[in-house]
Amino acid sequence: MAKLLKVKPLEMIEAEASESGQHSLKRALGPLNLVALGVGAIIGAGIFVLTGQAAHDHAGPAIVLSFCLAGVACAFAGLCYAEFASLIPIAGSAYTYGYATLGEIFAWIIGWDLVLEYAFGAATVASGWAGYFVSFLQDWGIHIPPEFIGTNAQKFVFYNGRWSDVMTLPAGVDISSLPVHQGWFNLVAFLIICIVTAVLVIGIKESANLNTAIVIVKVSIVLLFIVIAAAYLIKHPALASANWHPFIPANKGGYGNFGFSGIATGAAVVFFAYIGFDAVSTAAQEAKNPQRDMPIGILGSLVICTLLYILVSGLLTGVVSYTKLGVPDPVAVGIDATGVRWGSFAVKLGAIFGLATVMLVMLLGQSRVFYSMSRDGLLWKWASVIHPRFRTPWISNIVMGIFVAIFAAVIPISDLGDLVNIGTLLAFVIVCAGIWVLRVRRPDLPRPFRTPLVPLVPILGILFSAYLMVSLPLLTWYRMVGWLIIGMFIYFFYGLKHSKVQAGMPVVSQPPVGATYTEPK
Ligand code: ALA
Repeated sequence: MAKLLKVKPLEMIEAEASESGQHSLKRALGPLNLVALGVGAIIGAGIFVLTGQAAHDHAGPAIVLSFCLAGVACAFAGLCYAEFASLIPIAGSAYTYGYATLGEIFAWIIGWDLVLEYAFGAATVASGWAGYFVSFLQDWGIHIPPEFIGTNAQKFVFYNGRWSDVMTLPAGVDISSLPVHQGWFNLVAFLIICIVTAVLVIGIKESANLNTAIVIVKVSIVLLFIVIAAAYLIKHPALASANWHPFIPANKGGYGNFGFSGIATGAAVVFFAYIGFDAVSTAAQEAKNPQRDMPIGILGSLVICTLLYILVSGLLTGVVSYTKLGVPDPVAVGIDATGVRWGSFAVKLGAIFGLATVMLVMLLGQSRVFYSMSRDGLLWKWASVIHPRFRTPWISNIVMGIFVAIFAAVIPISDLGDLVNIGTLLAFVIVCAGIWVLRVRRPDLPRPFRTPLVPLVPILGILFSAYLMVSLPLLTWYRMVGWLIIGMFIYFFYGLKHSKVQAGMPVVSQPPVGATYTEPK
């Protein structure tokens, strides 16, 4: 047991950080860049796709409350992430924090869990991206065969000059006389993951400026929606009050089917929209002044996105009845309803670019975690093999890219999203616990940012996260347990035997001749 709980000494982590620092990017990121990085990773399929589904299936107009609930859970976890990121300001995120505080087995669980978050997260966003891209092409009269725009859980019907998911048709449409096709393999989602993977292998590093530019476009689109929708509702107050009543639709039987439990389930679903603020912590090694700026980046991006989400979701259900929002592109549908035609074009274009950067950050995060675990000896060596010319962990990128592309092509977006949420929530629970444990075990460490009211805040973080976890479908729990069992097999049959911390070996591995791994940004 003592072996499983072996921690990686903080001194070892610091030595590792300074070694890779020689080849890593300069400490160039200031507080604004870090906030932009967070917002860039956060705003994506959650707000652009899942909001509509969660309102339609679970919460109705009370989706606003779901966003508040999920935001509160993230705020507690965010405060704990902020303390860790300022205390251990190096790459690796929650995996490294877990290794330093709770022990190897917990680090393994978080690392394996983060792979779930990032890999399935990228697949989820790819699915959402495909929805917007297909819709955009159809606006221009370009139709991809329906077999290739969805999974086989979806059925498409040719209605009003475009292929639409039958679940999203207005009530009363008789499909018996219309062409209907079953989806088979979401080729569009598959291909976008292949493209993003190719970009990562070649090693294009998003410069902070490029990221900031895309974030500005993305945030402008969201603000555009807020302004147009608010102006429209001010002119049509009767519509707003009709759509917002009842604000909490009565429960229709069963947990999560509207009513108060629907708000909780809605929160567990839209929690996906907040994922990404933790990604700021992976840039700790590139921050100019991580002690001061990491908390600003993590908490600042979280606050900005929470405010935007509350406004968007509230206005969206005011402009369009929630019963019509179960579509792949709800924000575009919302802006369409205001009659501003170019608005829908702008939203789709913004989503297409904006979601692409989220996939990039997620797959980058995934390869970082794999790289760190492999370097610690917990995963096979190939996961940290560096391409001699591109200087990227290319084998890991390609292997995982293929898996992620296939997941995106065959698993429905809601199943993917739920799995990502439960995995991330579990990581939050462990990070919150880690802060508490470290305060008890190492009260002496200098903490540039201190989570307030410890242990209350970590406990609330654990409770809120656990509450959202239990609000997810049972099937999602089975899937997560299945994932963790696979992980445990790998740990006991490989990781434990090859762990460098167990062997007391220096963790920093030498890169292959002529190659150095440059931490991507
Ligand atoms: N928060 C990110 C999104 O919504 C993962 O796409």
